[in-house]
Amino acid sequence: MTIEGKKIYLSSITYDDTDSIIEWRNKEFVREQFIYRELFTRDTHINWMKKMVETGKVIQFIICLKENNKKIGSVYLRDIDAENRKCEFGIFIGEEDCIGCGYGREAAELICSYAFEKLGMYKVFLRVLSDNIRAQKSYKKSGFEVEGKSVADIWIDGRPIDVIFMAKFKENKKQG
Ligand SMILES: CC(C)(COP(=O)(O)OP(=O)(O)OC[C@H]1O[C@@H](n2cnc3c(N)ncnc32)[C@H](O)[C@@H]1OP(=O)(O)O)[C@@H](O)C(=O)NCCC(=O)NCCS
Repeated sequence: MTIEGKKIYLSSITYDDTDSIIEWRNKEFVREQFIYRELFTRDTHINWMKKMVETGKVIQFIICLKENNKKIGSVYLRDIDAENRKCEFGIFIGEEDCIGCGYGREAAELICSYAFEKLGMYKVFLRVLSDNIRAQKSYKKSGFEVEGKSVADIWIDGRPIDVIFMAKFKENKKQG
C-alpha cells in the first residue's frame, strides 16, 4: 500500500527494509530519543514483523522522498485498539540530512489521516521524551496537542526523565 503526500509518500514496510530499519534505529541520534533503547538486531526486527506487522497489530510504513524515491525512515501505528478507537504513533527518520525538513510533520499528518479515515480511529496518541524539543515541535505542527506529563517516568543514564503525552483527534477535537 502507498499513501501519497506532497514531498513524501508512505510505502508499506516489507522484509526487504530490514537492513535499513536496523541501521536507522540503531543510530545514536535516533536510539537516544526512544524509551525502548535496546539495540535492534535482525532477529528482534524479524520477530516484530512476524508478530506485530503481519498480524495487523502494527501498521508500519517506510517514509520515501518523492523527488528520488530515497527511503529515509519509518512511521507506524501500534496498539491499535478498535474498541476504544485509539492507537499509538511512532516515527523515526534515520537519514541525518533529512532531519528538520518537514518530512516528519508530513508523515505524521498522512498516517493520522489514514488512522482516522481507514482504520476508524478517533484518537492517535504518542509519548515523547521531554527534552526532545524537535520532535515536539514537529508533532505540534502536525496537529498533536499536549495531554499531560509523567514526571520521572523513566531513568536514562542515571537521571529521571519526564515523558510527555500528546494526542491528535479526528476532526480536531479540542480537549477539556
Ligand atoms: C522527530 C522527527 C520524526 C521529526 O521529524 P523532522 O522532519 O525532523 O521534523 P520537522 O521538520 O517536521 O519539524 C522539526 C521542527 O523542529 C525544529 N528543529 C529542528 N532541529 C531542532 C533542534 N535541534 N532543536 C529544536 N528544534 C529543532 C525545526 O525547525 C522544526 O520546527 P519549525 O518548523 O517550527 O522550524 C525526526 O527529527 C526524527 O526522527 N528524529 C530522531 C528520532 C526521534 O526523535 N523520533 C521520535 C521519538 S518520540
